[in-house]
Amino acid sequence: MIVVTATALHRALADPGTPPLRPLPPEAAELLLRSNAPARLAAHLRAVHDVAAQLLDWLGQDYPDLVVDDRAVRFGAATHDIGKTRHPEELSGPGSRHEPAGRELLIGYGVPPALARFAASHARWDSPDVTIEELLVSLADKVWKGRREAELENRVVDRLATVSGQQRWAAFLALDDVLARIAEEADARLDFQSRYPVD
Ligand SMILES: [Fe+2]
Repeated sequence: MIVVTATALHRALADPGTPPLRPLPPEAAELLLRSNAPARLAAHLRAVHDVAAQLLDWLGQDYPDLVVDDRAVRFGAATHDIGKTRHPEELSGPGSRHEPAGRELLIGYGVPPALARFAASHARWDSPDVTIEELLVSLADKVWKGRREAELENRVVDRLATVSGQQRWAAFLALDDVLARIAEEADARLDFQSRYPVD
């Protein structure tokens, strides 16, 4: 049983994907292997990480004055649900126990709190002191499957308008455009994820 899971996990980490999904940062992939993560979880993290990387590429090009810690966003997207290795029932059902558990798991592996925080915060984008990095991980965790979340997007628009001097409506249209483009491949990403077992 363990051998089967490990094989599926390795495949989920190495599968190029259709559309192609970027590989996870090596340190994130290593943590998934160490924690014997379900393959379905690794596939989900591949999808969300790829979308986060697309958002970073777009921001780097169109909003160069926005200061974003790209490495933190990529690591956060690649590990945000790692707590589901401890609460696998939350892979296929609702629940938030994986959030504190994920942060604790990462801290236990020696991950600095600044990088472990995404595991606990990815569903708390409405907190008053949320960072742009946390907003981007939360956004990627919605739009990978084509889900749009107006309040979350508004918070990102606020940051874009502030840093660029754009009118809010212009920043809104720019974000809407890139999210709509990313959402076009939501079905393919859902398909990729569902090819991997939850246990
Ligand atoms: Fe997620």
